[in-house]
Amino acid sequence: MKNLAVIIAIVAAVQAQSIDDVPPCARDCLRNSTKKVTLCAESDLSCVCGKFDQIRGDAAGCVLGACGADTGKVLDATKQLCEPLA
Ligand SMILES: *[C@@H]1O[C@H](CO)[C@@H](O)[C@H](O)[C@H]1NC(C)=O
Repeated sequence: MKNLAVIIAIVAAVQAQSIDDVPPCARDCLRNSTKKVTLCAESDLSCVCGKFDQIRGDAAGCVLGACGADTGKVLDATKQLCEPLA
């Protein structure tokens, strides 16, 4: 039973996920970089996460400028976004 609850929680978490879960300061940067370096629809997380190294490389300077000290939070959020799909 305990495992079932965990599975349900994971499914719910995955379904709730979108790029909107990333702190607002980084969304434009990540959206722009997603468009620039991939052909992924931004809502297609499995595609976005598959290319995330490239997106992150392109967006890094933009995110740092937009989010400053919150950049660490952005990294955590993107990790949580992509980890269930890895
Ligand atoms: C994203 O791209 C749009 C359109 O090119 C641009 O106006 C906007 O400034 C960009 N945003 C960031 C955060 O780079």
